[in-house]
Amino acid sequence: MPKMKFLLVTDLDNTLVGDDEATQVFNQRLQSMRSQICLVYATGRSHASTCELIAQKQLLAPDSTIAGVGSEIYQDATLDLDWAEHLSQDWDKMAIASLAQQFPQLQPQSLKEQNPWKISYCLEPAAENSSIIQELQQKLTGSGLAAQIIFSSNRDVDILPQTSNKGNALTYLQKRLQIPSEATLVCGDSGNDISMFEQDVRGVIVANAMSELLAWHRECGTENHYLAGSACAGGIIEGMTYFWGF
Ligand code: GLC
Ligand code: MG
Repeated sequence: MPKMKFLLVTDLDNTLVGDDEATQVFNQRLQSMRSQICLVYATGRSHASTCELIAQKQLLAPDSTIAGVGSEIYQDATLDLDWAEHLSQDWDKMAIASLAQQFPQLQPQSLKEQNPWKISYCLEPAAENSSIIQELQQKLTGSGLAAQIIFSSNRDVDILPQTSNKGNALTYLQKRLQIPSEATLVCGDSGNDISMFEQDVRGVIVANAMSELLAWHRECGTENHYLAGSACAGGIIEGMTYFWGF
């Protein structure tokens, strides 16, 4: 891979994808400087479902894909085994899943969404469910099980190894590529993107962001985080201009 100057890491659903016209404008912009930019998609989707979306929405081929909320990293169709080994340490999937089963409010997502380093559920957005995540975290900690819980879109609950998530995965790639903070831009719209904004990088929050990300921005946002005026890919383009001048 030739030496790249910039690292652009973007979520897909409701960030790069969501406004087809804006996605195509983004593609054109990026294509004109493709050799300078390392393009990474960071998504909650499985790798197979990401490939389907890339074909369906005519997205550019990425240099790497962070799939399953950081639980897997792919270069083309090849799983990054170093990352997989890193996540496997101190991760007891069976014990964590059986503990989570004690919460009937947590409805398992389909088998396609599960992988060796990701256990995913749906939680109905009801008032009586508001403390479930906290209770689950307490039970995990109490049982000495290392894991993190990520809540997105008021509905999705992902349980991952503590060393996983989109943010840790992107920092792993950033270090490998030796791209500095000011040349790294992350883009997202929901809770599973928060870990990316927590890294030493620049970040753009698209105008259509979910309440959990906006709440995070109000509490923890800095001058490194740009709240875009445009939705979806339009917001990414705005952020590239804001931070990089193009
Ligand atoms: C995607 C994944 C799902 C996950 C959600 C939030 O929709 O398919 O498994 O729970 O993102 O991270
Ligand atoms: Mg999204």
